[in-house]
Amino acid sequence: MSRKKIALIGGGQIGGNLALIAAQKELGDITVFDIPQSEGMVKGKALDLMQLCPLDGYDCSIKGSSNWNDLKDFHLFIITAGIPRKPGMNREDLLEINLGIIKDVAKNIKEQSPKSFVIVVSNPLDAMVYSFYKESGFKKNQVVGMAGALDSTRFRAFIAMETGLSVQDVTCMVLGGHGDTMVPITRLATVGGVPVESLISKSRLKQIEDRTRFAGGEIVKLFGNGSAYYAPAQSAIEMAESYIKDKKRLIPCASLCEGEFGINGYFIGVPTVIGKNGVERIIEFELTKNEQEDLDNTIEAVKKTVLETKL
Ligand code: NAI
Ligand code: 2OP
Repeated sequence: MSRKKIALIGGGQIGGNLALIAAQKELGDITVFDIPQSEGMVKGKALDLMQLCPLDGYDCSIKGSSNWNDLKDFHLFIITAGIPRKPGMNREDLLEINLGIIKDVAKNIKEQSPKSFVIVVSNPLDAMVYSFYKESGFKKNQVVGMAGALDSTRFRAFIAMETGLSVQDVTCMVLGGHGDTMVPITRLATVGGVPVESLISKSRLKQIEDRTRFAGGEIVKLFGNGSAYYAPAQSAIEMAESYIKDKKRLIPCASLCEGEFGINGYFIGVPTVIGKNGVERIIEFELTKNEQEDLDNTIEAVKKTVLETKL
């Protein structure tokens, strides 16, 4: 069995961490791609990582490139190309610059690897994944956005911190757009099968939900320059690994909805099965009236940004 060819478009903070984790998990042969001005940077990161591989015995090739011709017939692309947030900016403020970048990236991926599976990470996420889909003309199973995996792991981390119980036993999901209107489904969150609503008071849970919604901004403020990268990288790798190993993980991802949860024609965070065919299925379940209202609210926010793309 030959190794999968993985391209990381954008070799910055998340891109570098993606390369590290993908190598550690031996997911395939990796090329870290960036603009020509950053070619030395990605070649350097790739070389540094190649020198790390013997220490733990990871067998894979890691290269840096700024030439699209090096990305022919790749299986998987993870896109982090673009600029991250600075304090005071929301994700939507990135739209103008990152839209131009995603259009260029979509055109090139379509030319080089029309059969690939693409995970978009760049912000504003829900509009970027929509733009990639429109611009590339890819099928809906080939394109997905990473956000729910990250927002859910943040929610999990805060619940574990609050209860003092193992992160391993916390399960929960956050649906909707990757913005302040995201929807933590607290009703279904559990620790070892025990509902969190019986472990944490209502008022504390409300604070934890709010912290989850603004968790990205909390880190932007602390950094002073740029946004989170460790948890975002691992979140995208979970999705990548499920595709490469055909694991059929059920992960909240920004997938194209065509009627699911009452959403039509937009990418938004919904429970998604990822396997060897990319996005294989969206799994619907019954929401309460309040949850559906919150989801409707987040859809309106996503639509507003998507409309600005004029695609
Ligand atoms: P970064 O600034 O460290 O890296 C971005 C890289 O993209 C830079 O190296 C830049 O040179 C490169 N780039 C720019 N234009 C390019 C092009 N046309 N082709 C290839 N590469 C190009 O930023 P970081 O921290 O890695 O974040 C990347 C993106 O991910 C940002 O838009 C950020 O807002 C977003 N993000 C999304 C999250 C999510 O949950 N979806 C979570 C965290 C960040
Ligand atoms: C995050 O949630 C800024 O989207 C980025 O960390």
